[in-house]
Amino acid sequence: MVAQRDDRSGAIRLALTETGAIGATVRQLARRIDGSLDSVEAALDHLRVRGDVLRIGRGLWVLRDFEDLGEREDFVDPAAFVERFAREDGVSLGTYAGPITFRSNESLPVHRWWPYVQGYSAEFVRGVLAAHQIGPGVTVLDPFAGSGTTLVEARRAGARALGTELLPPAVLAARVKTYLELDPGRLARAAGRVLSTAAHHRPGAFPFLRETARQFSPAALGDLTRLRDSLPREGTPVPDALRLAFGRILIPSSRLHRSPCLGYGRSDGDDGLSVLDRFRDATGEMADDLRSLVGERIRLGPPAVIDARDARTGDWPPGSVDLAVTSPPYVNGMDYVMNYKVDLAWLGYARSYADLARLRRTEVACDNLPRAEASPYLATTTSIDPWLTEILPRIRENVRRKGTYRRNDMHAIVHRYFADLVPVLRNVHRALVPGGRFVVVVGDSLLAGTYVPGDLLLARIGRSLGFRIVSVEVARSRRSGQRRSFGLRESVVTLERPSAAVGRHVHRA
Ligand SMILES: C[S@@+](CC[C@H](N)C(=O)[O-])C[C@H]1O[C@@H](n2cnc3c(N)ncnc32)[C@H](O)[C@@H]1O
Repeated sequence: MVAQRDDRSGAIRLALTETGAIGATVRQLARRIDGSLDSVEAALDHLRVRGDVLRIGRGLWVLRDFEDLGEREDFVDPAAFVERFAREDGVSLGTYAGPITFRSNESLPVHRWWPYVQGYSAEFVRGVLAAHQIGPGVTVLDPFAGSGTTLVEARRAGARALGTELLPPAVLAARVKTYLELDPGRLARAAGRVLSTAAHHRPGAFPFLRETARQFSPAALGDLTRLRDSLPREGTPVPDALRLAFGRILIPSSRLHRSPCLGYGRSDGDDGLSVLDRFRDATGEMADDLRSLVGERIRLGPPAVIDARDARTGDWPPGSVDLAVTSPPYVNGMDYVMNYKVDLAWLGYARSYADLARLRRTEVACDNLPRAEASPYLATTTSIDPWLTEILPRIRENVRRKGTYRRNDMHAIVHRYFADLVPVLRNVHRALVPGGRFVVVVGDSLLAGTYVPGDLLLARIGRSLGFRIVSVEVARSRRSGQRRSFGLRESVVTLERPSAAVGRHVHRA
């Protein structure tokens, strides 16, 4: 028995030596040494008690020798990149003080209509608009508009608000939230009609998602289909607002949670509210907020224009934008389409898995990118940025050493991510007036044991496309999902289209 366990421990030690600092999960180890999950768990426990291994990140195990990434010869740590950025790009990192995450929006009128964890704070946007003296007569652009935080605040500042966004439920949220002229009384009456129609409606068909019956209780499913089938057709302000309220209550009415990724684990109805109660509350809150903002109407900018499209193809007229503010997806960030598949299906924006796949092909690369989309980016040499030419082979090598990793083409995904940002940066640069700024909130990442300074890379790529790097300010620290002890950051990168033409090198992706 003991001899058998020692053999297994030895095999695990060997496997963990090979996977190095990126470690392996119990399942990966079991596959690698051809053992059962239970036996691997028992052997790991034995090694842990002896102090030979430790658990990091989400269920990853590493040898204690690899506890500190900095001790690995090929590991380039955040400080080294910061120092190099100051040397090569002439900018030292500063600090941004103030709330940056969406959390503070959850109690704010209008912003709370569609809680979007991936969004940033209205207070941050207000600060940027004030610092750039944004008011009537100017245009503000957000190419990754999300739920419309930038556009709501730009309109409230009297500016013209322009945006693009790929995810249809987010486009709906941004459109509804920026239309602050909506009559609260009409909205409340329309919500009342929907509720009384739904009360007498027969339950309808489920959306196409295979797990629908597992995601909701039978009672919630019946109510949701009746409510959905009682909603007026989309396309005008009141029906759109009703649909947004319906979209908002989907996850709270389900057995799912989104924190920030979609997962099971919430018991439905735990606050005792029915689907119809939730809809009544959501539309009531919208009507209250609209009433509280009636006095602001006179100061609002022209109606916002939000296009449901891929920001990489944004063709805003040259010199038409005074300020751009955005937050793109992060390197190895979430798959927005899969994370919002419930909303997409119930709101009718996706009617099949093929529709979801189509949308996923156009989103900025995430670690769930279809393989065919990543395959043109398998080469590790790139003209995007010399730092990337160093980073991509490190990712590829670490994944190869590990043997089993979530994706063996991870370096291609990272390559494609930065290639996706190039046309957006180029389009925004062209759209800005000379002297106009592009303020970007973005984070860095730790991938397969390789550090990727996403914020500094974005700034550098912007510089290669003709922007001047004004500043990079650290707004908050985050924890790596792969290794909780590893500190990451979220930064505010400010770029400027210089007033006078300066020499520039344009890179092709
Ligand atoms: C970090 S979120 C922006 C959140 C926004 N600042 C807010 O406060 O709600 C990034 C957004 O980029 C969108 N996105 C991803 N790929 C895109 C693409 N190719 N074109 C346009 N939008 C895209 C995602 O759907 C997501 O809403």
